[in-house]
Amino acid sequence: MTRMHLLETGVILFSLLSSSFALQCPTNWTQSDVYHDKCYWIVTERKNWFDAQQVCTDNVPGSYLTSINSAFENGNIDADVVDTPGSIFCDQMWIGGDDYEESGSYTWTDGKPFSYTNWDSAGQPDLTYKCVSTQAKTTKKWRTEQCGTLNCFICEVYASALTTTTASPYNCQTSSSPTARISALSTPMTDCYDWRTTGSASVDGIYRISPPGIEPFDVWCDMTTDGGGWTVFQKRLDNCTVFWNRLWTDYKNGFNNSLDRNYWLGLDRINILSTKDEHESGIENILRIDIFGNRCNPATDPSCDPAFGSNVYFYGEWGSFRIDNETNKYQLHISPVLKGNLSGSSADNLFSANNNRYFTTVDESNSQETAGNCAAFNEWGGWWYGDCSYFYLNGKYFPTDQTDAYSGFTVGHSGIQSGTKFNYWIHPIRSEMKLRRKN
Ligand SMILES: *[C@@H]1O[C@H](CO)[C@@H](O)[C@H](O)[C@H]1NC(C)=O
Ligand SMILES: *[C@@H]1O[C@H](CO)[C@@H](O)[C@H](O)[C@H]1NC(C)=O
Ligand SMILES: *[C@@H]1O[C@H](CO)[C@@H](O)[C@H](O)[C@H]1NC(C)=O
Ligand SMILES: *[C@@H]1O[C@H](CO)[C@@H](O)[C@H](O)[C@H]1NC(C)=O
Ligand SMILES: *[C@@H]1O[C@H](CO)[C@@H](O)[C@H](O)[C@H]1NC(C)=O
Repeated sequence: MTRMHLLETGVILFSLLSSSFALQCPTNWTQSDVYHDKCYWIVTERKNWFDAQQVCTDNVPGSYLTSINSAFENGNIDADVVDTPGSIFCDQMWIGGDDYEESGSYTWTDGKPFSYTNWDSAGQPDLTYKCVSTQAKTTKKWRTEQCGTLNCFICEVYASALTTTTASPYNCQTSSSPTARISALSTPMTDCYDWRTTGSASVDGIYRISPPGIEPFDVWCDMTTDGGGWTVFQKRLDNCTVFWNRLWTDYKNGFNNSLDRNYWLGLDRINILSTKDEHESGIENILRIDIFGNRCNPATDPSCDPAFGSNVYFYGEWGSFRIDNETNKYQLHISPVLKGNLSGSSADNLFSANNNRYFTTVDESNSQETAGNCAAFNEWGGWWYGDCSYFYLNGKYFPTDQTDAYSGFTVGHSGIQSGTKFNYWIHPIRSEMKLRRKN
């Protein structure tokens, strides 16, 4: 009776939802009647829990052993099992629950909260075993079993995973940032260096930091480059966020299309991050810039270095990094380059052109250039300009076939060729600007 009820309700809900969301499930997968963005694959071959997970992922990247998130889903998924030919021989079926992290504390491999449960009342969950299965066809109750047991299993995939795996690199995502890691320690995490050292964090990602004198905010922390602990304040990876024509207030307050995608942290925050350690303990900060890839096409653009393929990588570090507050137009201070190959062998272009310069945006020019506004000219974007610059990391992200010498998102690199200084231009695919206190 219960199942009839669930099925009927399911049909009604499904017809309501399916009129607006028709999800294309992969071949042999069926759309969930309960969650319109979810597909299942009922596998009647027997595998241990780990191999079952692998079979799911091998069939469709981004899939998992299924989570079960409501009584409604529990009833419905089990009806799907009954309808699958061959399932008559499947008594227990693996689903994606386990308590590997902490005994008795179950989690779903897909990251969904383990809020709904349907344990068999006869002594379950049994903490002797770590992997969760359901007696799908009959009681729909769950139990733990030894993970090496061979069972049939149920895979799931969400529509979001299907679109990410098939997305073109320019499928601009508009979703908000993934959740930041929040410190449980009583000492404040004032930057990513605190997270790396006091917080023992070692994974790149989004972390919440609380520098003095400002509301806490989230940033991307680079925890892997050269020892980690870098607070990233500029990050670009595609053209989905326009940087170049942002106004003074945008550069002041920051903008992003998700902190794991493209972002500018905001000059007020960079000011605080780059001065707080000097104020408190006389410790200076290092500025690091990493650029990845080159969209320059030497076949059509003679200012590209033909020696650099599209996978080149450059980095540079400058000391005594600090930017002033708005009163002093966010003036940039750096030392000559400390290390790296981004400057090139014959000139330290960032130091020579940008040190001690004020910030300029398309609506506020603070440079010495009399010919015009450097941020607007050649779509170079907000930056610390003197007589314009060689570095334009906030410039327009031109398509590869339209890159043009020094327009847009560009770095000018100076070397020596046959005893003579020469310049060429790099149009990065990705960039990151970050700081870390000198230790
Ligand atoms: C779908 O299932 C059929 C029957 O088991 C199988 O022959 C076929 O290869 C499967 N297709 C895919 C894409 O997995
Ligand atoms: C990122 O953008 C969101 C939405 O505009 C905003 O709420 C958030 O404060 C931004 N974060 C940063 C660090 O700029
Ligand atoms: C710049 O230096 C990095 C780190 O040593 C290296 O991986 C990279 O290949 C260098 N780039 C070029 C173009 O030589
Ligand atoms: C800006 O910085 C200067 C020098 O550090 C300081 O004297 C001034 O009070 C600051 N202004 C604001 C608005 O914070
Ligand atoms: C981003 O680049 C792609 C590929 O060149 C292009 O099709 C798209 O229109 C660009 N989007 C924006 C917002 O410029």
